[in-house]
Amino acid sequence: MTYDPQQPYNALPALPPQADVESRAVLKACIAARAAVAELKAAGQLIPNQGVLINSIPLLEAQASSEIENIVTTTDQMFLFDGSSEAEADPATKEALRYRTALWEGFQALASRPLSTNTAVQICRSIKGVDMDIRRTPGTTLSNDLTGQVIYTPPEGEALLREKLANWERWMHGTLAGTEDVDPLVRMAVGHYQFEAIHPFTDGNGRTGRVLNLLYLVEQGLLDIPVLYLSRHILRNKSAYYSGLQAVTASGAWEPWLLYMLQGVTETATWTMNKVVALRHLLNDTAERMRKEASSIYSRELAELVFVRPYCRIAHVVDAGLAKRQTASAYLKELAAIGILREHKVGREKIFLNPAFIELLKRD
Ligand SMILES: Nc1ncnc2c1ncn2[C@@H]1O[C@H](COP(=O)(O)OP(=O)(O)OP(=O)(O)O)[C@@H](O)[C@H]1O
Ligand SMILES: [Mg+2]
Repeated sequence: MTYDPQQPYNALPALPPQADVESRAVLKACIAARAAVAELKAAGQLIPNQGVLINSIPLLEAQASSEIENIVTTTDQMFLFDGSSEAEADPATKEALRYRTALWEGFQALASRPLSTNTAVQICRSIKGVDMDIRRTPGTTLSNDLTGQVIYTPPEGEALLREKLANWERWMHGTLAGTEDVDPLVRMAVGHYQFEAIHPFTDGNGRTGRVLNLLYLVEQGLLDIPVLYLSRHILRNKSAYYSGLQAVTASGAWEPWLLYMLQGVTETATWTMNKVVALRHLLNDTAERMRKEASSIYSRELAELVFVRPYCRIAHVVDAGLAKRQTASAYLKELAAIGILREHKVGREKIFLNPAFIELLKRD
């Protein structure tokens, strides 16, 4: 049977794929990807305050993953509004910050329940900021942005979608017969295709699927926290992302798709790992400078705070329990005086930027 992009693809095959998804080339790519992820995990463990990573890398990921959907904001905007005045942000920044929130909530939920269809629903709701649910009505299609031509029509019918999602869940958790020993990274890549092909929601499927990828790595123990910047690869190789997904549907081309995803994991794990190492050095250097040049106010907690909050407000210092308001303000001013922070006015509020850290995060 040939596949017709105009018709709902209700015949989407259940997992596992018919093709061999662990070819020699895939296994080789998998070894490299596993090594890179393991190095990232180890680098992350050397940073005592995990808040430094959790508040920074996911913001990059959220910005890039949203940009794939043409929701364009900047890393600066993200940091500026993160955790303080989100309501005042422009719509694109708000939406990208919601992606960050979805990732964070999904991460926390892993402690109490395994990844499932319900997790996906929760993620999609957080991203979209409205009560999304599994599609009940027909009419969802994927079309070419420029020509408007329909390139894919996902399956239809809530019961069918739920059945396919139940199969997807079992694949992810390795409970389908004969798939127990498939490598988790291969499972992630296959699962991402399948999730996108099912396309359970009317919108937000791409971003939900990309959050699920990161949560899956955590669930499988490959990472402690969801700090892989995988959307960097997808954003930079966006047309290959779309054509790779499409080729699995049209011609069962699993191998190129798997290699694309594994390559992405390797590249971005290495990129993120280098970032984490540089970040640790900068944090230590900054703490050391503070101890020498502002010894009367120095504490390791204060040094870490300006990394957890690279756009630091007086309230952040107060909330961290480091000082009362007056003193907190004096602390930040002193750090600005010795050049570690830079004072910046937004409306009536004073914000103290950590320029070296922001520069480091943005640099490629
Ligand atoms: N041919 C295809 N077959 C299956 N899935 C596809 C195909 N082309 C693209 N996709 C997936 O569909 C997503 C877009 O769907 P949707 O608009 O619901 O998600 P989104 O999160 O709003 O968008 P985006 O992923 O662009 O940020 C793409 O990101 C990709 O993951
Ligand atoms: Mg969309």
